[in-house]
Amino acid sequence: MVAISDPLEEGLRDTQWLGESLGALDASTFSSRSLEFEAGVMHERGSLIEVWRDDQARIMLKQLLFDGMFAHDPVIAESFCETISRASHENKTDKELYTELRVLVKDSILSGFIKEAFENDEIERVQRRALQLADELHPPARLVDVGSGDARIAGLLAVHWKKNQTEVIALDVEDRPNRSDQVEFRKIEDGAIPTDLKADAALLLMVLHHESQPEKLLGEVFEMLEPGGMALIRETDLGDSSDELFHAALDNLYYKVLNDLPGVPIPAMYRSLEEWGKLAVESGFRVEKVVSPEPDSPVKPFHMLLRKPDV
Ligand SMILES: C[S@@+](CC[C@H](N)C(=O)[O-])C[C@H]1O[C@@H](n2cnc3c(N)ncnc32)[C@H](O)[C@@H]1O
Repeated sequence: MVAISDPLEEGLRDTQWLGESLGALDASTFSSRSLEFEAGVMHERGSLIEVWRDDQARIMLKQLLFDGMFAHDPVIAESFCETISRASHENKTDKELYTELRVLVKDSILSGFIKEAFENDEIERVQRRALQLADELHPPARLVDVGSGDARIAGLLAVHWKKNQTEVIALDVEDRPNRSDQVEFRKIEDGAIPTDLKADAALLLMVLHHESQPEKLLGEVFEMLEPGGMALIRETDLGDSSDELFHAALDNLYYKVLNDLPGVPIPAMYRSLEEWGKLAVESGFRVEKVVSPEPDSPVKPFHMLLRKPDV
């Protein structure tokens, strides 16, 4: 990781507002894909080979590889696409394809460039997210990043709000390496956020979709917050079945090929913006704002700012 003083001040402002309030929210049906057989080869839910055969999902994957992850080097994006395309034509299994992609990432002549491109993308992603969040939240007295991962986003916020003396705590169910010396990392030991932990702001960034009972975790965050406290959720807005296939395949690409984050259940249970909003309201929150921070991304991320009512 490169040394950065306060990257949040350095630009990257691409936040776009969708609207001030969601108002009434309707639940929409969440269709979940099951295992499928195709030409005798069983593909997992979220197979990259299935993505390649789905016109809409393939376009989204190419956009992500060429314009996002490997934007610095189209040759690498091309190699990824060629490998997936060949596996699809040769009717390989997902396991065989992941092995080939891992060889590309770790052992091939391209491996150094791929590692660098992926790490650049990660650094940019972490900085961009921290900036977007700092734009949303007033400096709190205590911020708890629930499902913090390696605490890099929490760490950047701690640096950004240093003059406000914001205390930042990173919480995770897994013992993640803490990559910031600016935050305290705590592992959740008993399957739930400790009831004596209180905060006036909480983050839930790309966490809820990994939970089989997201309403339970939302309830714990609600309890942790002081009256009037804010929670900021980041999720992706799931649309049709091509979206769902694309997201599940991305999980496999991210966690089985590019990154090792043990303990994260995949593929995750993605939902639509309306469904997440409904869940938040049912947990007692008021939805204050919904933001589309990267409107051109095929991943369709959104931020939802929630408030625990004062009384
Ligand atoms: C996709 S990672 C997101 C990491 C980080 N928030 C980010 O945006 O880069 C999801 C993280 O949530 C954690 N997690 C999942 N369920 C959790 C729970 N109930 N409480 C705390 N952490 C949880 C996982 O261990 C994992 O580190």
